[in-house]
Amino acid sequence: MRFVLYSASAFLLLMASCSQKTSAPTAAKEKVYDGANIFAKNCARCHGAQGVKDERTPNLQTIALDKSGLIKSITNGKNRMPAFEDKLSAEEIAAVADLIVSWHR
Ligand code: HEC
Repeated sequence: MRFVLYSASAFLLLMASCSQKTSAPTAAKEKVYDGANIFAKNCARCHGAQGVKDERTPNLQTIALDKSGLIKSITNGKNRMPAFEDKLSAEEIAAVADLIVSWHR
């Protein structure tokens, strides 16, 4: 009886590790929010490919905003900076904010 229980739990463990493997494609799906790609398509024309262009736009490589401040400005816009609330999803805006934060390191 004990052996049966043991092999049953071993089988369950095996099943659990298999289902973990099949969940891998879900993780790959999150890569849809590619901050660099979103920046290139939506921001680079004004801010330059690397976040630095000219005196009309702030230097995003050095701007003193944390992730939540970036998300706020990108979502709502600021003066001549357009709001992206209706153009990008919250996930896309967060991915772009992560990209800019990564430049600050
Ligand atoms: C049409 C040109 C244009 C586009 C497109 C644009 N920006 Fe801007 N952005 C500006 C201008 C101009 C400012 C300066 C606004 C100010 O401070 O008056 C600015 C400011 C900013 C700031 C600083 C805001 C603050 O609170 O000081 C951030 C961050 C920023 N942009 C990020 C982005 C990101 C990310 C994108 C793409 C999703 C983007 N911008 C797209 C023109 C643009």
